[in-house]
Parts: sequence; structure tokens; C-alpha cells
Amino acid sequence: MALVTGNEILQHAKQNGYAVCAFNVENMEMVQAVVEAAEETDSPVIIQTSANTVKYANMDYYYAMVEAALKHAKVPVALHLDHGDSTELALQAIRAGYTSVMIDASKLSFEENIKQTKAVVDLCQPIGVSTEAELGNVGGKPGDEDFGASGYTKPLEAKEFIERTCVSSLAVAIGTAHGVYKGEPNLDLTLLDELSKTVDVPLVLHGASGLSENDVKQCIENGISKINYATELRIMFTESVKEYFDTETSFVDPKKFMEYARTKVKELAKEKMYTCGSNGKASTFH
Ligand code: G3H
Ligand code: ZN
Repeated sequence: MALVTGNEILQHAKQNGYAVCAFNVENMEMVQAVVEAAEETDSPVIIQTSANTVKYANMDYYYAMVEAALKHAKVPVALHLDHGDSTELALQAIRAGYTSVMIDASKLSFEENIKQTKAVVDLCQPIGVSTEAELGNVGGKPGDEDFGASGYTKPLEAKEFIERTCVSSLAVAIGTAHGVYKGEPNLDLTLLDELSKTVDVPLVLHGASGLSENDVKQCIENGISKINYATELRIMFTESVKEYFDTETSFVDPKKFMEYARTKVKELAKEKMYTCGSNGKASTFH
């Protein structure tokens, strides 16, 4: 199956009361793990690469790996640029064949965020590429400031932001953070409910690694349509390789430990798909 746009999947998720998992991948094995998990659970899925990941290998590599993985797949898959930080990077993603692009100008002022988001929407919209922006401060990355609840997304600002940018989905700040949680995450579900009632576009949850199954389900009930998982998959891949090295000593073939890590990431991705309720939904697509 050919790639579909992010928005096609997000609209389907919003209408059918589930969330699509968006998994950050770093290499071929993670691409394979995610696509196999989606096939085995009959889930639509979004594969995404961050701005840092595409510095490691450019987007042509990731596009080619995803395209190869989809040759015999039946589930709908979108390929998304995660946390893009410039119009130039958005253009590179479009040229590489990505079907969805995030422009993250959330650290800038409201007006500058609107300006940069609008510039990317103007590039993407005419050619049918979906867009995601972020409003508020999710934080948690090295160097990020913690603004607490004062950095959460404000419903009326979100409404104005969407009206002025025409962005097709919005990442919101409601208490999640990127990376490993230091304490118990405390999510503002009342705010999330208000946000989902104030804006029409699908809402995106960043920083989902480490959230409980119950937290994720509550977020979906209160209006989230896309859930981003990165850290948990990276940890699973790396820890599995370490575990393999700890238990096996007499091997020289890298396929051995890569295959082991791939299987572990696939199991984790399937678990997340069941939590997000995307299982069984691919066959109801279109
Ligand atoms: O954009 C990616 C996500 O927000 C992932 O967050 O690393 O906490 O899973 P995470
Ligand atoms: Zn994120």
C-alpha cells in the first residue's frame, strides 16, 4: 500500500474514537518492527523521524526504508517529520516524499509561532501534505525550561492559532514531557476536554513514553487522536542489544542482536497499539 497522509489517518482516528500511534524510528529494524506490529494488529500507524534523526541519515533513507516495508503491507501508514524546526527542513521532507510535516516553533512568541507555522502550511497544503504545529510548552528535552501549568495550551489561543494558520493538527501541552518522567505525570484532562471542544482539528499528545495505560486511555477519551512514542522505543531497542551482548558471547553476525532488538520493539509497539485502540481499525479505513 502507498503512503497515506497524516490527516487521513487522524480524521479516521478522531471519527472512530481511537488514537493513532506515532512511533519515532532510528533505523531499518525499527521501521520493520513498527510496520509488522501494525500489520499484526490491523492498525493504521504513523512512522516519524525527528529533526535530530534526519541529521544522522537524511530523509531519503527513511523514506526508502518505509516504502520498502510497505510494498507488501495492507495497513495505512503515514510518514511524518517530527519537531521540524524550519521551513527548509519542511521542504526537504516534502521533496523526500513525507506525507506529513511538523513545524515546532512553540518556543517562540505566539505571533512568531503563527508566522512560521503559516509559512509551512502554505507550502504543504496545496500539495496535500498534512501539517502539525505545537502551542504551549511540552518541554522535557535537554535545555528545555519547565514552565509548569503556565506553559499549558490556552483554548482561546489554540482557536485563534488554528484559524490564522489553517494547520491540520495541533500538539498541546497539558502536563506531559519528553523523555523519562522524573516524578508522576499529572495531566490536566479538564483542560484537554476544553481544548478538544474549542478546536476542530485532531489533537496530538507528545511525551507519551512512561505514561500509564490509564493516562493514555483518558487522554483519548478527552480528545487526543495521535500519540507520540519515542523514548520507550529507543530504550527498548538499546536495552535489548545490551541484553543480547550480556547473554551471548560467541557471535560475529550483527543480524543476531539486531533481530532480537527488532522483535522486542515490535512487541512494545503492539502493546501501545492495543492501549490506543487502533487495533482492528485499519480494515475499516476508506
Ligand atoms: O515527538 C516525539 C514525542 O513527543 C515522544 O516523546 O520521547 O517522551 O516518547 P517521548
Ligand atoms: Zn515531541
